[in-house]
Amino acid sequence: MTESRTAAVEHRDSPFLGLDYYDERFGDWFFGREAERGQIITNLQAAPLTLLHAESGVGKSSLLRAGVAWRLRALARDHPDARDVPVVFSAWKADPVSGLIAAIAEAIEPFVNGRPPPSLGERLAEATATASEAVGGSLVVILDQFEEYFLYTTSESPPERFADELARAITADAPAASFLIAIREDAYAALGDLFKSRNVNVYDNFLSVDYLDVLTARAMIYGSIDVYNNQSGVERVSIDPAGRDRRIRPPRHGSGRQDRRRDPAPRASHRSWRGQDRQRHEDARRRPDRQIGAGCSRRGPGALPTV
Ligand SMILES: Nc1ncnc2c1ncn2[C@@H]1O[C@H](COP(=O)(O)OP(=O)(O)O)[C@@H](O)[C@H]1O
Ligand SMILES: [Mg+2]
Repeated sequence: MTESRTAAVEHRDSPFLGLDYYDERFGDWFFGREAERGQIITNLQAAPLTLLHAESGVGKSSLLRAGVAWRLRALARDHPDARDVPVVFSAWKADPVSGLIAAIAEAIEPFVNGRPPPSLGERLAEATATASEAVGGSLVVILDQFEEYFLYTTSESPPERFADELARAITADAPAASFLIAIREDAYAALGDLFKSRNVNVYDNFLSVDYLDVLTARAMIYGSIDVYNNQSGVERVSIDPAGRDRRIRPPRHGSGRQDRRRDPAPRASHRSWRGQDRQRHEDARRRPDRQIGAGCSRRGPGALPTV
């Protein structure tokens, strides 16, 4: 399928985003994650819940926003008869149930075909059902930075209300949305505990993401510079190959955000899979109906069709 580039490319004063994640506006600037993007979208279309986990700083938020959501929105614009309207949510602090329903209302607005947007109510399962009917398709709800939700569960009324609502929406007879939970590696275990008593096995379908490898990081650098140079009114920039390769370094493991601040350049990974990851992956592979969670990090760029 060819890339949809109907929306104008967002102007930027620099080819790179520095420490910020790429949001959906910068889909045209986002390179190096095409295989992972395709794999995540395939999972979202096949399963009611996908879990995506990785260390902090690997690029989850950017991949989900400028990769997955950007691509789904472009597809939804181009294919009104088979829509998956993306909703990205990460504002966990104040009443996440209402916050997510408001985000759904905002996300569907461009797709209601000129009709008045429906009232979505206060329950997540019903809200997704109403919203998906209004857009004549389905919703893809991406819950990013889920580790932050653990900080606020007790201030909800009743406590853990969002977890209740989410479990109810996922286990509905005919779910109107598919959900993705993106979570930092160190909060992975707590997630299972949160959903265990709610009849949801969050580990049924999971993907992990790794750092960009050297070749992909190199392609990402050149891709971003090309987009930058194609803007009108900018002075063309280039990068000398030696400087480029000095910037692509293996990550320091377990370093997280602290080290990333000192070293915001794209990093390449030479780490091997840890035993725990490999075991989880092998378990998932053995289940005949669960081979979709093959692990983004296992596949090279371009190994999967671009969705
Ligand atoms: N494909 C990419 N190309 C260039 N930079 C990237 C890419 N993905 C992520 N980054 C950069 O890496 C850093 C971490 O990305 P982020 O999406 O915040 O990771 P995470 O959500 O896993 O913590 C940010 O500075 C972001 O701009
Ligand atoms: Mg993030």
